[in-house]
Amino acid sequence: MAKAVRRALVAGNWKMNGATAQLKEVRLLAQMLEGVRLNCDVAVCPPFTLLSAVSRVAAKAGIATGAQDCHAEASGAFTGDVAAEMVKDCGASLVIVGHSERRTLHGETDAVVKAKADAAHRAGLTAIVCLGETLEERKAGRTLDVVSRQLEGSLPSVALPADTVIAYEPVWAIGTGLTPTLKEVAEVHGHLRAELARIAGGQRSRGLRLLYGGSVKPANAAELMAAGDVDGALVGGASLKASDFLGIIKAYM
Ligand code: PGA
Repeated sequence: MAKAVRRALVAGNWKMNGATAQLKEVRLLAQMLEGVRLNCDVAVCPPFTLLSAVSRVAAKAGIATGAQDCHAEASGAFTGDVAAEMVKDCGASLVIVGHSERRTLHGETDAVVKAKADAAHRAGLTAIVCLGETLEERKAGRTLDVVSRQLEGSLPSVALPADTVIAYEPVWAIGTGLTPTLKEVAEVHGHLRAELARIAGGQRSRGLRLLYGGSVKPANAAELMAAGDVDGALVGGASLKASDFLGIIKAYM
């Protein structure tokens, strides 16, 4: 399946940023996208506290919403956690699982990430499964081994183009302003595409979208999005301001 056949996705991950005042950025984005013919899907993943409110504003503009994490169980004594079903109930259609900040700061293993991705599917959500190597792993020449292991361990039991997206985010590129070269991006994405065929089966895997994430900005988006096997972006810092986020979405206008 040619890259053009996979509809790109540009998703913003607000992380732990934004209170009610941040809603104005979604309203602005909605205004900016009005009447624009896009060649990609657009999504915003705010903190849980804003998920319902953002979903209401975004839905009118055809912008999808997602959470940044979910618990693997549907309910129970898990103080402070949020189930995938609750995310869905807020009007969201996506959930990010296995972001490197969750893997590092909350000790999430591949098995935990897989359980969360399965929970997303149980709730009727699309799972954005994140993976990526650390700087030490890259320097040691272990990048492809690391992402293979993460992909194999974190991929949900059934991964279909409609319900699963993979986001390659080198840990050393997140929030640092550093990005891999286009050749490095294409190498990892090409490898992941081949690994998906091996793990999930050829026909099915060809439709799965592979996003790149890590210091995507308006200035480098078009270039990064044109790299081999890149089907969109997962954007952190530059998704907080509508004008910056639009600058990235423009890669698909
Ligand atoms: P960044 O974050 O765009 O701020 O580097 C990306 C991410 O963590 O998803």
